[in-house]
Amino acid sequence: MKIAVIGSTMMDVVAYTDAMPAPGETRAMQDFHVACGGKGANQAVAAAKCGAEVLMVTKTGDDIFGARARENFAHFGIDMDYVMTAENTPNGVASIIVDNSSQNRILINKGANDCLTPDDVEQAAPALKQCDMIVLQMEVPLATVYAAIELGRKYDIDVLLNPAPANPDLDISKLAGCAFVMPNETELSLMTGMPVNSQAEIEAAAKKLLAMGVKKVIVTMGHQGSLLVTADTVQVVPTMKVDAVDTTGAGDSYIGCFAANYAKDGDIPGAMQMASAYAALGVTKKGTQEAYGTAQEFADFLKQHNIG
Ligand code: RIB
Repeated sequence: MKIAVIGSTMMDVVAYTDAMPAPGETRAMQDFHVACGGKGANQAVAAAKCGAEVLMVTKTGDDIFGARARENFAHFGIDMDYVMTAENTPNGVASIIVDNSSQNRILINKGANDCLTPDDVEQAAPALKQCDMIVLQMEVPLATVYAAIELGRKYDIDVLLNPAPANPDLDISKLAGCAFVMPNETELSLMTGMPVNSQAEIEAAAKKLLAMGVKKVIVTMGHQGSLLVTADTVQVVPTMKVDAVDTTGAGDSYIGCFAANYAKDGDIPGAMQMASAYAALGVTKKGTQEAYGTAQEFADFLKQHNIG
């Protein structure tokens, strides 16, 4: 089973602080690190750590961050045939502040990610046709996301879209045929223009996406678990309570793990349960990719929580 991730690569520059600086204030932070991130790369690494074979289609920068990102893909055994370098362009960078309630605030400079074009997706078609699923997010141009959805439709490959970060310009009529759309509540509200203050409202908003031709919607709801909405089912899969220290990239670990497990056996609630547990494990450590559990760590965590 092979999963293709078409999407972003960033370098994360992360500050950990006990309080946000006020305007004009300089504060000392408690911890700092620079690490490989980006929603696409995070999802690819999570899927690879969960045992999937992964093809990455992305544009890295022509600088030291780009070089580091390429080494990182190689380290995780990711197929790099379509990990490209945008000439004279910096790598994408995310400036992240994590506070002591484990919440994050992120500013991104897309850099090379903005150079990933529909043509690049078309060039990768021979490799994409060998994959069982295409995973997408929205830190690359929307035209590229639409081209990838179109390619999935053409070659009958399941497409999973994580509509993050939320983008008001997203045209939901272009999502017809997606096997899965996986927003969080905020993204779902922005996509549909509908409120999401209760489960009934979330279901109604998800059904609007189904009416546009999306096959299944999975809404990630943080500590409340995730909600599957299809034409004939609504199912909540709860998550477990953990002591979170950094929730950055939790959605990405959920998606990577979901894709890896779904590609194995097609069991959607089962893959959601694994993904919730994997995301819960990840938030107990600082960072994104380095916080995602190894196979052994995840097996131990599942055992501790009597899952599986
Ligand atoms: O979802 C988390 C990711 O969002 C970070 O790794 C950062 O790179 C931003 O893209």
